Amino acid sequence: MSDPDLTALQSEFTAALAAAKDGASADRVKSDWLGRTGRLRKLTEELGKLSPDQKKIRGKAINDLKLACEAAAEDRLKALASNGAKAAPADAIDVTLPGTSTKLGRRHPIYQTMDEIREIFAKLGFEAAYGPEIETSYYNFEALNIPLDHPAAEPFDTWYLDDPEVASRPYRFLLRSHTSPAQMHIMEARKPPIRVVVPGKVFRTDPADASHLPVFHQLEGLMVDEGVSFADLKGVLAIAMKELFGAKTETRFRPSYFPFTEPSAEVDVSCVLCAGAGCSACKGSGWIEVLGSGMVHPKVLEYAKIDPEKYSGFAFGMGVERIAMLKLGVPDIRHFIRSHPLFLRQW
Ligand code: PHE
Repeated sequence: MSDPDLTALQSEFTAALAAAKDGASADRVKSDWLGRTGRLRKLTEELGKLSPDQKKIRGKAINDLKLACEAAAEDRLKALASNGAKAAPADAIDVTLPGTSTKLGRRHPIYQTMDEIREIFAKLGFEAAYGPEIETSYYNFEALNIPLDHPAAEPFDTWYLDDPEVASRPYRFLLRSHTSPAQMHIMEARKPPIRVVVPGKVFRTDPADASHLPVFHQLEGLMVDEGVSFADLKGVLAIAMKELFGAKTETRFRPSYFPFTEPSAEVDVSCVLCAGAGCSACKGSGWIEVLGSGMVHPKVLEYAKIDPEKYSGFAFGMGVERIAMLKLGVPDIRHFIRSHPLFLRQW
């Protein structure tokens, strides 16, 4: 056999390797040719028939062919292995496809509104503070100068958490019916100057209707310092209402009564829908009531061991749902707790 035969054999081997489309068939080609009983081995066996000189030349040629074939087989196997990794089976997960998007939650419109109010007051120098939702009757009533047997206590009557027959304490546990008890916690904990707002949940025995829920939110405000006057209360709230409802918003203070403020005022804003002209939302009056306020009662300061001769303060409390309804144009407070995804996704 002459060397040109070896060249032909090499081409044949190369073609067979190229025809192998996966690792297993390439392996088979490799062992058919290079294995212990393979075709190249047979060439070596034939060497015995040659003269020593011929044997030397032919032997080297066969060995070169063997090395070339081995290298080609390795290359082919490597190429098929990396190809195999790329060609995924038909049912494999394609991680490069865009994913199924997860629906992100968002802050409830009531909490968005609460955050917005809190930020407005932050700009006016009021920091945020929080009070407990479970209160004692002392903080919910007595410390705020609300006599329990007085009609003034009625709107604040609420859910008690203990049994009056069993309770031997001088106070009872209840769900706070307003955020005002936080005023006392704050005044007990720090010295004036005090400028805080307290957002949070409150609880009342009101049955749910278009404008009431037994659980709702308030934002309390408290400022105590030397020389704080009713003018400060008016100024702060007038600015805050303009920030909240728009620069054209007017504010009106009507005399009112709260046991923990003296004097007290109910605050109205010019109707956000008709700008004061009169519509169904403001029942034709052009004004909408948004909060209760007043100068902190001297007795309340005294309970907090703050000298009413030296310090004075104002407080206010607003219903967050009510403000959200006005700002977002929601006609029924109950929508907020039905949590219909289409309703909530508007904001
Ligand atoms: N706590 C009162 C209420 O819930 C509102 C209020 C707060 C009034 C602070 C005056 C001062 O109705």
